[in-house]
Amino acid sequence: MADLTRRSVLKTLGATVVAGATAGAVVDPAGAAAGAVADPAVAGAAPRPDLTRPTSDPALDARLARLLRRMTVDEKLGQLQQSLGNSADAAAAARAGLLGGVLGLDAAAAINALQRVAVEESRLGIPLLFGFDVIHGFLTTFPIPLAQAASFDPEVAATDAAVAAREAGSAGLRWTFAPMIDVSHEPRWGRVAEGYGEDPYLASAFAVAKTRGYQGGDYSAPDRLAACAKHYVAYGGVEGGRDYNTVDVSEQRLRNLYLPPFRAAVRAGAATLMAAFNTINGVPAHGNRHTLTDVLRGEWGFDGFVVSDYTGVAELITHGAAADGADAARLALTAGVDMEMVSTEFVTHGKRLLAEGRLSMRRLDDAVLRILRVKARAGLFDRPYVDESREITAPAPADRAAARRIAARCMVLLKNTGALLPLSTGVGSIAVVGPLGDNAPDLAGTWAAKGARLFPPVTILEGIRATAPAARVTYAAGCAVTGTDESGIPAAVAAARAADVTVVAVGESADLTGEGGSRSDIGLPGVQATLVSAIAATGRPFVVVLVNGRPLTLAGVDAAAPAILEAWHPGVEGGNAVADVLFGAVNPGGRLPASFPRDVGQVPIYYNHENTGRPADPNNRDTSKYLDLPDGPLYPFGYGLSYTTFAISDLAVRPARIAVARLRAGAQVEVGVRVRNTGPRAGDEVVQLYLRHRAASVVQPVRRLRGFRRVTLDPGQQIAITFRLAADDVGFYGNSGTGELLVEPGVIDIFVGGSSTADLTQSLVLT
Ligand code: BGC
Repeated sequence: MADLTRRSVLKTLGATVVAGATAGAVVDPAGAAAGAVADPAVAGAAPRPDLTRPTSDPALDARLARLLRRMTVDEKLGQLQQSLGNSADAAAAARAGLLGGVLGLDAAAAINALQRVAVEESRLGIPLLFGFDVIHGFLTTFPIPLAQAASFDPEVAATDAAVAAREAGSAGLRWTFAPMIDVSHEPRWGRVAEGYGEDPYLASAFAVAKTRGYQGGDYSAPDRLAACAKHYVAYGGVEGGRDYNTVDVSEQRLRNLYLPPFRAAVRAGAATLMAAFNTINGVPAHGNRHTLTDVLRGEWGFDGFVVSDYTGVAELITHGAAADGADAARLALTAGVDMEMVSTEFVTHGKRLLAEGRLSMRRLDDAVLRILRVKARAGLFDRPYVDESREITAPAPADRAAARRIAARCMVLLKNTGALLPLSTGVGSIAVVGPLGDNAPDLAGTWAAKGARLFPPVTILEGIRATAPAARVTYAAGCAVTGTDESGIPAAVAAARAADVTVVAVGESADLTGEGGSRSDIGLPGVQATLVSAIAATGRPFVVVLVNGRPLTLAGVDAAAPAILEAWHPGVEGGNAVADVLFGAVNPGGRLPASFPRDVGQVPIYYNHENTGRPADPNNRDTSKYLDLPDGPLYPFGYGLSYTTFAISDLAVRPARIAVARLRAGAQVEVGVRVRNTGPRAGDEVVQLYLRHRAASVVQPVRRLRGFRRVTLDPGQQIAITFRLAADDVGFYGNSGTGELLVEPGVIDIFVGGSSTADLTQSLVLT
């Protein structure tokens, strides 16, 4: 293997690339801009488009430029093609040097076999880049990303990513199509399951953690993957929450809401980005020069590559933005898409576009160099093959333990009347009812990979039986997740009547969430609400455990159930983790990363909304509200209960007045609070800091999160917490389209507390 590796390096680069020398380097737009093109060969052979800055590694660029000079136009176009790996066509394309990347293979032998064709049988031996949707685990299935956001602990995402990268890397994968960091105010959109909720600050923190978790400091390491921040951009704004739908968004909202997690991921060194399926203000994201080139390359200095989404280039025709395949290739390539996933417009029409002057060789070379750069940083020129004898074939016990700890850490206690929870393990009998009570596959969630197939999750019934071995535990589904059949409900009611306590596990199957999983009604599907009412009618104590992938409308459940635990789609250890929380081995400390509406008619409803000129007033008809609903969500952003209680006090803002110029020069404002566990048990509080500008040139949200800290405190224990606010925190973006951060004088109210409704407040004056 060492020989082959060496040969491939010599064959392709003419020199060994010191993989990792720059890998994982944080892209610093300022630093990158300061550099100059060091290698005249690079400058001569492949000058970049004006907006593309020199990379952080001119030596690597020079080596890649030498390789580029040896490539034919067909071979260059071939690097831009990513195809499904499990076809004879893929091998033929690899042999002909007409394939750059592969998706869909997930086993070392198959990956090595196809790689061998590319490295040993193609003219230049350029290795393929193997990508896969490693989203919330590979073999060890972690909770869905939305659940992870509820942990308010970015380390959760870093752990998921590191475990998944080690497992997937051992199978020969070098690239994952994650993190998915689309902020969304649309719970009808099934893809909210894949992202980190409705807030750009929270999503940015998870974007950074997940990118670093996948890539480490150097994604050439065999246990790391190149990340792909997706979907760039504003996909979370699809109208009506209908997947793939139109997005029409102001520049300020684009920059304040949708772009921040991508900027954070790029700053954290994300190797690649994926374009989004939607239009942005009439221009598809795949053909959007403003977002793909002006912002991404021009403002942020991104030196990785952009991959299309699945057939996203060909879909430019269906959108009505391109007349035909050649036009689609021209539009996407000139806008800034570098690699085409599955459709084949670039390879098919690229030569003709060059001949007709509709595509410049300069831009083609730029796209090729970007792809080769990521391949080099992924170590592929040095080590194109994976060691099949070291392929990980099952989740390690320590990783399963992490999945269990994390699943419990993501759960949110929504209601707990009369301290019904935690249950005693000494309880005599428990009825588990509901279609998700003894269901393994749906606990895995929407993007469960190979692991969910091979290692199905522990069910809630199994988790409860294992945790309370002395209890008599019965199970009756009552109904299915969907459908109208109520015939099983009487048996579930009988089980509840015969038990000391009932656990009702209801929610969504995995396939009601994720891509293509938009729903117009976000209540409990099927007759599950009827099941909950029937159990409530017994008058016996019961707990609702929600297994779902989006905010749900739960007004009926909230009214009927004494206790509600949001468990999300919790992954491979889901049932054990639910039991850990139900019986108090873990005190729940998760918080909602998105508002839960009272009714779907309120959507979009989100905490970071504008005030309007007439904010809701129940006593005044002509204010911004619905006549038929109370104002606000059922459960707000940042909300969650605990088995203990906390007090947050002593808010201090230092200094309370500061000049904008000082902030711009790097000064910071310290916001201190004290948090104390005032209840009977150890538990977690998530201390959250929100800002509100009283007046600004662009109206600011009534609250916006700019700090959070999850802390564990023993009963009676108290600690001081200090947040630091910089220019970036108090600044915002306007509509100019230039990306200039606006930091304006005025009064900013600072709120700190345990949810987005925190009322402890002090003001900060910017002069
Ligand atoms: C999805 C992407 C995914 C890709 C490859 C697309 O349909 O939108 O998120 O990475 O397929 O599986």
